[in-house]
Amino acid sequence: MVEQIRRALVTGASSGLGAHFARHLADRGVEVVLVARRGDRLRQLADDLTTASEIVVADLADPDDLGRVGERLARRDAPVDLLVNNAGFGAFGGAGELGGGVQAGIVEVNVLAMVRLTTAVLPQLLERGVGGVINVGSLAGELPTPGATVYGASKAFVRSYSQGLVDELRGTGVHAMLLAPGVTHTEFGEVAGTRGDRLPGVLRSDAEDVVRQALAAFARRRSQCMPGVHNRAARHAVRLVPTPVTRRISGYVHGQLGRA
Ligand SMILES: NC(=O)c1ccc[n+]([C@@H]2O[C@H](COP(=O)([O-])OP(=O)(O)OC[C@H]3O[C@@H](n4cnc5c(N)ncnc54)[C@H](OP(=O)(O)O)[C@@H]3O)[C@@H](O)[C@H]2O)c1
Repeated sequence: MVEQIRRALVTGASSGLGAHFARHLADRGVEVVLVARRGDRLRQLADDLTTASEIVVADLADPDDLGRVGERLARRDAPVDLLVNNAGFGAFGGAGELGGGVQAGIVEVNVLAMVRLTTAVLPQLLERGVGGVINVGSLAGELPTPGATVYGASKAFVRSYSQGLVDELRGTGVHAMLLAPGVTHTEFGEVAGTRGDRLPGVLRSDAEDVVRQALAAFARRRSQCMPGVHNRAARHAVRLVPTPVTRRISGYVHGQLGRA
């Protein structure tokens, strides 16, 4: 599966999981189109990659920038075979405390950009019957997340959307997969103002390991990948435990993570 992929576009390639996706794909001989706002970071990464790369500096919350990335995905002359919808961010605080702009931004980047970019790439993928889409959701998309409500809701959308795509694409040669990591060492916590370091180390994943597992799962045409046995155990527990209890526990954990 990954052997068929000659060119990938990775959003949020300037740090964390996205940078690891770019490096791993390049190490497998895949050309990478790098997308994020911080062009200096992208240029630095491009210099390190072992394959040719393109850089698209874009703010995915900006409709014009999003349109430019969509145009790149729709191109037939140098087609993108794999779209990794990875860019995303969270913010901690109650829905009444966080500014409307921040909350709308989470929806624009985590949800709207994913839908717009997937819609842009699918026609040419379906014409050729190759490649696919990896959407980066989260364990947070599996449960209500009081204290980070918009973020959790955005990732619940990513989960539902990705599950629908998997079924719609069956038999077309094009594959979709949801990657749903738990807490992972990246810049995410710094941006969101969370304290993931309050969790015991064993509950935090290594970003490179998450990406390695994701690409292996995609190669096996898995519909979803949740690295870490502790994360999968939490997901099972959410399904078994009554929702009011889950909400209490989730609210407590997110409250601890979001506390200054
Ligand atoms: N780390 C975790 O604990 C964790 C857990 C579950 C899921 N996730 C998900 O994993 C994905 C990657 O996050 P990460 O952990 O690698 O965090 P990260 O290190 O903060 O990386 C986030 C990436 O998204 C990009 N981005 C954010 N806003 C953007 C915008 N408006 N336009 C374009 N790019 C934007 C950032 O680039 P620029 O700032 O340069 O634009 C950056 O490259 C996210 O979808 C996140 O929700 C993370």
